[in-house]
Amino acid sequence: MIFFGGDYNPDQWPETVWPEDVALMKSAGVNLVTVGVFSWSGLQPAPDSFDFGWLDRVLALLADAGIGVCLATPTASPPPWFTRSHPDAMPVNRDGVRLTHGSRDTYCVSSPAYRQASVRIARELATRYAGNPAIKLWHVHNEYGTTCFCDRCAAGFRVWLRFRYGNLAALNEAWGTDFWSQRYGSFEEVLPPRATQYLPNPAHELDYRRFFSDALLEHYLVQRSVLPGLVTTNFVLGGWVPVDHARWARSVDLVAVDDYPASIDDHLASRAFTADMARGWARAAGHADGRWLLMEHMPGAVRDSASGITRSLPPGSSADVASAYLSRGAVGVMYFQWRAGRGGAEQWHPAMVPLLDELGPLGTSLRPRSPVVVTAPTALLYDEECLWAWQSPHLPIRLDYSALALRWHRALCGPVDVLPVSAPLGSYSLVVVPALYLMSEATHAALRDFVSGGGTLVIGFGSGLVDECLRTTPGALDDLIGAGVARRVHLLPGETRPLAGDGAGVLWFDSLSLRGASALLRTADGEPAVTTHSYGAGVVRYVATDLDIGRILGGLP
Ligand code: GLA
Repeated sequence: MIFFGGDYNPDQWPETVWPEDVALMKSAGVNLVTVGVFSWSGLQPAPDSFDFGWLDRVLALLADAGIGVCLATPTASPPPWFTRSHPDAMPVNRDGVRLTHGSRDTYCVSSPAYRQASVRIARELATRYAGNPAIKLWHVHNEYGTTCFCDRCAAGFRVWLRFRYGNLAALNEAWGTDFWSQRYGSFEEVLPPRATQYLPNPAHELDYRRFFSDALLEHYLVQRSVLPGLVTTNFVLGGWVPVDHARWARSVDLVAVDDYPASIDDHLASRAFTADMARGWARAAGHADGRWLLMEHMPGAVRDSASGITRSLPPGSSADVASAYLSRGAVGVMYFQWRAGRGGAEQWHPAMVPLLDELGPLGTSLRPRSPVVVTAPTALLYDEECLWAWQSPHLPIRLDYSALALRWHRALCGPVDVLPVSAPLGSYSLVVVPALYLMSEATHAALRDFVSGGGTLVIGFGSGLVDECLRTTPGALDDLIGAGVARRVHLLPGETRPLAGDGAGVLWFDSLSLRGASALLRTADGEPAVTTHSYGAGVVRYVATDLDIGRILGGLP
């Protein structure tokens, strides 16, 4: 069976609409709906009063129609009574401003009051609906991602740092605090990376993201511990999200991902990348066959993130969109949302109901199908810590890591697992590694083992420049690639290094001195642009510039 459906917010509509909703769902082949994501104020209208009557009736209607439910805990949007009585549970931004109620995702996970309230509503739901046959999956929270810089988070950060580094000397050494007189004399002096005068310490910033990923995970795990059955949360992607999804994937029963491509151009390539990454997270975390669920995507449209304009896809596109996910191992395609609310900030967000002419036939066509199991000979390493690290303003160049990884992914033929760096590589014949700036000793060792064992590795410029604390590691890849980087050249937009034959390198150029490697492709003026090197039983290619990567990856493996 393939799941087909979406977020359903019946509480945003009069009850008279519900039977029509359910009848339409049934005829459209909908078999799973996510209910209750933003229903906290409806379920708990006051601190000590609960109203589950409406949810009982919704679940009964759905169950009668044979439609499964993914029941959410509503903790992503605390109700006004909560925020009014606990203003200190609101997040504080980098500038020290405490945010106020008025949107959603306005919470600080370090607040004991917020945690208690979250567990309480989760426990109430668990107690009432444990064993309800309509419930197929529990959905904790929504798109974890709110960062906070308050004093409580500062205290939590210090505990986390003590645990990570053990002592202050190790912290000072890891963060390079002799630079700009940042040496800490006690853990109490360490703050979150709040707004500061000039460039912040990049290692401090990176550790705060790591800490926050763990702080959010703790909030998820506490809720998970009170819920019966299979539990997940929907991962949201984007450079702003302080969540290391590869690590979180081990704590969900099914990896679930929301996918909103940033542009209508090449949206299918972007969806393919997300799908291969979701499967990679699932596989690396040990989920059977790398199965994963597309929890949300936009029906019939893509919101262009640069302009903010929602652009419709050509009529009939939904089948191709669904297939981009299903052919890559998704166990279901779910949309946000079934029916748009009449009011509120997402009243103009596309929904399934107006598109049922197209989505109905798609949903019914999926009825006889089962999820596919994907076996890929090729892996692309993609690391969210690297994504964060590449965002640092202190770097000598702006490099869009995800866009680069997406281009490399697109150039590969056949199925590809997009894997976190922690994943075992033994089953792949080809591993490609774009701009893996941050490489720990474990990652260095894993790549060398892979190649020694006969694998082909393609590694790109910008890789292996720092360790996990962002300390520079000059020459760390030299033995592997059979070359040293004599000079690193950053190119302005529009500036190129013409290549022999045709094409050009842009953005970045590593001038290589070959030490065992030979050039596969040179610049027009004779410098190596792509090299090959035998290492153990395998081969390493190094790509020294940003070029049409299809030329290099197209023929592999
Ligand atoms: C996210 C959220 C949904 C909704 C959509 C809009 O994915 O989870 O609640 O806001 O974005 O695209």
